[in-house]
Amino acid sequence: MPVDVLVGTQWGDEGKGKLIDVLTRDVDMVVRFQGGNNAGHTVEIGDQKYVLHLVPSGIFRKGVKCLIGNGVVVDPIALVAEMENLVSRGVSVDDVQLSDRAHLIFEYHKRADALREAGAKRKIGTTGRGIGPAYTDKAARVGIRGCELLHLDRMENLFREQAARYNQLFVANGVEALNVDEQWTKVKAAALYLQKYVQDTVVTANEFIRAGKNVLFEGAQGAFLDIDHGTYPFVTSSTTTSGGACAGGGISPRSVRDIWGVMKAYTTRVGEGPFPTELFDADGNTLREVGGEFGATTGRPRRCGWFDAVAGRYSCMLSGINKLAVTKLDVLDSFEEIKICVAYDLNGRKLHYMPASVEDLSAATPIYETVPGWNCSTADARSIAELPVNAQKYLRRIAELVESNVAIVSVGPRRDQTFQA
Ligand code: GDP
Ligand code: IMO
Ligand code: MG
Repeated sequence: MPVDVLVGTQWGDEGKGKLIDVLTRDVDMVVRFQGGNNAGHTVEIGDQKYVLHLVPSGIFRKGVKCLIGNGVVVDPIALVAEMENLVSRGVSVDDVQLSDRAHLIFEYHKRADALREAGAKRKIGTTGRGIGPAYTDKAARVGIRGCELLHLDRMENLFREQAARYNQLFVANGVEALNVDEQWTKVKAAALYLQKYVQDTVVTANEFIRAGKNVLFEGAQGAFLDIDHGTYPFVTSSTTTSGGACAGGGISPRSVRDIWGVMKAYTTRVGEGPFPTELFDADGNTLREVGGEFGATTGRPRRCGWFDAVAGRYSCMLSGINKLAVTKLDVLDSFEEIKICVAYDLNGRKLHYMPASVEDLSAATPIYETVPGWNCSTADARSIAELPVNAQKYLRRIAELVESNVAIVSVGPRRDQTFQA
């Protein structure tokens, strides 16, 4: 079987981690290709709950290779902590490989992230993990990459050079300078731990593909956090749409077969930025409470709202999604009526696509279609036929509106609460 890519179609937290874990039953390799530990991917297995930030969500399946690709930005200290935590819980990390071309995140990136947010007129509400500054250094060609972990003398020089540059920025802005010796000691310890995992993951991935093995690319964040296509500037700093898998994993577009889009049955967003269907009423609170909508990385309450088919259609178009995994359908179980946003109204003009400017998106009001709810639990359904008729109709309607096909439905956080449509 060839290569499949799985991405988030909204603003992140669609349930990608759960889906990757489910799909990995039939997969030989999972590859993260962008983002960093801003991601929080939850996998529930039995009574155990794991939140992964950098390690691919295929790690719970024995023998599945888990690659952290060249497009990922990696905080070595956070990665070691995550791997050690997995090992302490009995999960082997022997199959992890870290790209020698992935850029590294250090304390100075996190501090620069915080400094930027503190001083900004337009706060982004970042996760504070140093993602933006690390990708900035990558683009500015002053980043430090995974391959340096194998050459500590060289890496130390690069690290001290960059830390000194950042310290000038911190001091100029009234922020305490970093103790570079202290930081280097920590980085060096993490580097020594990670050395044996550093590989040319591009070669590993392409060898698997050539051998006809099953490879799954695990997207982080979601379409509207994409640096190009998201609600700029309220976005992350990487390509979160399916095209990112090729650049961030080092594979050819020719090898990709299916594109999975994970789509929550409603919408959530963490951090700042426009969100047309956001609810500030009791319905919004119900979605948050029933859906457990609190950030897996930062614990922040997620903003909640109705399903936005304008956004959904746009992200299916961007990523070429041919298989939808609709998640958290069960969270809608208690609603008498459910709303679906079918278009936006911008000053009397009907919009069917996402506008480029956040000012327009903020001014746009959703045009809703109201459909009846189903008022009963879907958590035990294991086929489309076992769903209440109104839930079946809801799925059909959103698939029609976003112009794609529902292939998997998820009705709870556990592996078994998933079925093919
Ligand atoms: P990700 O970032 O896309 O991997 O998603 P997160 O892990 O940040 O957030 C999804 C949350 O929803 C996690 O707590 C999952 O355990 C949970 N979840 C996933 N699928 C379902 C589902 O179908 N129903 C319910 N109720 N929870 C789900
Ligand atoms: P997963 O993979 C939801 C959001 C942040 C902020 C913006 C920029 O779990 O779906 P950053 O730290 O990346 O510079 O923050 O992006 N954000 C996410 N929101 N899920 C995520 O990842 C996110 N990763 C970043 O809240 O608004
Ligand atoms: Mg998440």
